[in-house]
Amino acid sequence: MCGIIGMVGVKNAIPYLMEGLSRLEYRGYDSAGIAFLNGNQLACKKALGKLENLRKTIQNDARNTNIGIGHTRWATHGKPSFDNAHPHISPNAKFAVVHNGIIENADSLKNEHFPNTSFASQTDTEVIVHLLQKYYNGNMVQTVSCVQKLLLGSYALGIISTEYPNTLFCTAKGSPLIAAVGEVGNFIASDVSAVFGYASGYYNLSNGEICAVQENDIKFFNNDAVCIEKQIEPIIADALINDKQSFEHYMMLEMMQQPDAVRNTLEPLFINGEMCLDSFVPDSHFLKNSLSKIVIVACGSAYHAGLVGERLFEDLARVETKAQIASEFRYSNPIINQNTLAIFISQSGETADTLAALRLAKLKNAKVLSIVNVRSSAIANESDYVIYTKAGREVAVATTKAYSSQLAVLYALSLYISKIRQSVEGEMYDGLIKQLLCLPQKISETIINTQSLVKCLAQHFYTQNDMYFIGRQLDFAVSMEGSLKCKEISYIHSESYAAGELKHGTISLIEQGTPVIAVATDETVIGKTVSNMREVEARGAKTVLVTFEKYKDCTDKSEVIVIPETASQFSASLSVIPLQFLSYYMAKLRGCDIDKPKNLAKSVTVE
Ligand code: F6R
Repeated sequence: MCGIIGMVGVKNAIPYLMEGLSRLEYRGYDSAGIAFLNGNQLACKKALGKLENLRKTIQNDARNTNIGIGHTRWATHGKPSFDNAHPHISPNAKFAVVHNGIIENADSLKNEHFPNTSFASQTDTEVIVHLLQKYYNGNMVQTVSCVQKLLLGSYALGIISTEYPNTLFCTAKGSPLIAAVGEVGNFIASDVSAVFGYASGYYNLSNGEICAVQENDIKFFNNDAVCIEKQIEPIIADALINDKQSFEHYMMLEMMQQPDAVRNTLEPLFINGEMCLDSFVPDSHFLKNSLSKIVIVACGSAYHAGLVGERLFEDLARVETKAQIASEFRYSNPIINQNTLAIFISQSGETADTLAALRLAKLKNAKVLSIVNVRSSAIANESDYVIYTKAGREVAVATTKAYSSQLAVLYALSLYISKIRQSVEGEMYDGLIKQLLCLPQKISETIINTQSLVKCLAQHFYTQNDMYFIGRQLDFAVSMEGSLKCKEISYIHSESYAAGELKHGTISLIEQGTPVIAVATDETVIGKTVSNMREVEARGAKTVLVTFEKYKDCTDKSEVIVIPETASQFSASLSVIPLQFLSYYMAKLRGCDIDKPKNLAKSVTVE
């Protein structure tokens, strides 16, 4: 969601602001803008829609300036519009602000502090520039400290002022923000990718910390405006270098990177061929004797990975496990305690609901372990234990390689706990470990074997209005992910159903030609799922079966997509691949913006 960039330096800041904004595009946005100092006055440029529109307005009016802030806005308070786009400027034209997050008490602040003022926008942000103007006391750090104490909610703020022509100010609480050190000047940004190549090190801001950034100096203050020291972190190149190479879309590149993502994720979890998670998880005494419940909490695809984990922790480790959607969990009164392992899954490590759910679990004394892709992100920082997925930077909004890496961690973790609790041992354990280590190779084979068949199938289905994905047990969890992919990038309405549940209502929606994609890899229930396929075929559905070679003849009425053999516990890693391809190719045929689907954001930093 909203992206922030700011620069103060020796060179014209505008090209750096625009490049930063284009690197933050992946977060999702519907308008963009920059503010900069033009002589001793603030100038502001904004545009609705793509960055291209903003670029045009700046080209017409190029300025040389050493200081500026920029923003990509994903609308929350107030529709996407020119007036609602950031930056916002104070009525006296002395302060400009960009904001990521939500000010929950914006309306009451407006009523209380500015009862007779009319605001130019419908945003929650605009009240901040009014507050800066009202409380400015000649010292900007003190003013920011005073204003932020009035704000409820989450925020990362970038601020420039005509009073400080050489200093950029920023503060953050609950929303990501970094200050970065560069050769041509210093920066602030929502994430490191925005300054990669221009900056060598960065500082993470949190807990209402305030930062004053100058060309050659960065100073930090706590939320009471008292000077503090912070540790600089290096910017690691390999996590960020990721161009589209020869692929038309990041999503295709990232689907192809799945074997490596899974291999790289598993690699640090093994020492001399033995799986060893000692340094990533609670001690074995706790796991063996005290652990009584696991909760897995996440959003979207990460939740779907969690559903696979739920089944494995129960089936293999024999620990009662519940996977929950973070936005529901955070407002529930969960039955968890010091004997609970609470697992939070997030690619970005920023998702607001997942972070809030994590804080609730901590309050209830659960042991908190997160599975996160972005290093030093808020969710990772606040966890007792972290296992990083090594998917590399994921740019396409629809996750593929991060989801696959999350599955790999869940497989490893469930086997590790199973071994400690002696619920899986000996040959079965060794066999599963062997299969786990073969997964990257099997994912490669799945990619090679299924891509062209799925591309053809997409030709048949892309004009449909509705699609259904069905499965049982783990296959149901995968069909949920297939259905989400279909909706989010090809904009085809789709639903996933536990195969046995269709006839309790949904089957009335099946019409002549309705596509029903069945995932069936589980020997114990495959016959049942095939019967459910028969039921929809009898009502006109066009069915497709995703299964292992050995079951491919169990239907003669469907298209069959064969995936390589693996342990049934790990089948999700393979069966998801053709479903990802299907949504990709249908989206392409429908002319959709595959990497940046409409209305979606890569990092969902508001609830
Ligand atoms: C779907 C997708 C989303 C994310 C969800 C959680 O393709 O990418 O559903 O999985 O928004 O995001 P993270 O994993 O960053 O917490």
